[in-house]
Amino acid sequence: MLKCENVDKVFKEGGGFVRAVSGASLTVAEGERIYIHGPSGAGKSTLLHILGGLSRPTAGKVIVEERDLYRMGDRRRSMLRNRKFGFIFQFYHLLPELTVIENVMMPGMIGSRETRSRIRRKAEALLEAVGMTSRLRHVPGKLSGGEVQRCAIARALINEPEVLFCDEPTGNLDSGMSEEIYGVIRKLSQLRKMSVVLVSHQEVARDFFDTEYFMKDGHLYGAGVSRDEIMSAGGFEGHQAKGRTWG
Ligand SMILES: Nc1ncnc2c1ncn2[C@@H]1O[C@H](COP(=O)(O)OP(=O)(O)O)[C@@H](O)[C@H]1O
Ligand SMILES: [Mg+2]
Repeated sequence: MLKCENVDKVFKEGGGFVRAVSGASLTVAEGERIYIHGPSGAGKSTLLHILGGLSRPTAGKVIVEERDLYRMGDRRRSMLRNRKFGFIFQFYHLLPELTVIENVMMPGMIGSRETRSRIRRKAEALLEAVGMTSRLRHVPGKLSGGEVQRCAIARALINEPEVLFCDEPTGNLDSGMSEEIYGVIRKLSQLRKMSVVLVSHQEVARDFFDTEYFMKDGHLYGAGVSRDEIMSAGGFEGHQAKGRTWG
């Protein structure tokens, strides 16, 4: 349903270039939960933004429903993004002057034909799913870090995305709270057959994802290769040296 093929991303930086992503190919199936891990600077966020229609690759393509995401007009792409994709970033950008329920409703109101009361009911149901029913009328400044995060999850889900993109979604949380957040995302993914692409430099519990990829120095090492296999071949560099890249 969503895939990228041979994606490169090169940034101009100072007088030189940074190759943030190099020849990455990846397919996301319906309902599949993918975890891409790798150290800081590996190119994870860049790849996620490209997959999510937020950043044009230097080379290669991203295909959604057999259409090339970056060959359609900007307006079309942003409509498709709003309809099909949800995003949870490390920094949540909740609007400080709006309450929790208003923040969650906000993306649902943009370009929607649904009534305000229907969007409100959806927002309430999502906030219930993430355990935030008692906080509907709080403003973000009065919430704990975990509560802000759960609110951001509910907001990312208001348009019932087919794919949820998560970039270091539990960055600043303790492990108990992280587990809780992953539990919520997994449950919603199972319930709605929503795909998830999660990138993180942190370890993620095995029962969260279906498929694991590794990323380093812009290269994506794909499914079907265990971490042990990569490490016993001399780590990422060893595999790269042998020309063995997957995905
Ligand atoms: N807008 C940008 N301009 C220049 N360089 C960038 C930009 N975004 C990312 N980079 C560089 O690309 C590389 C990959 O970054 P990023 O995708 O953020 O990695 P990760 O998310 O794995 O930490 C890094 O070397 C980073 O400095
Ligand atoms: Mg990142």
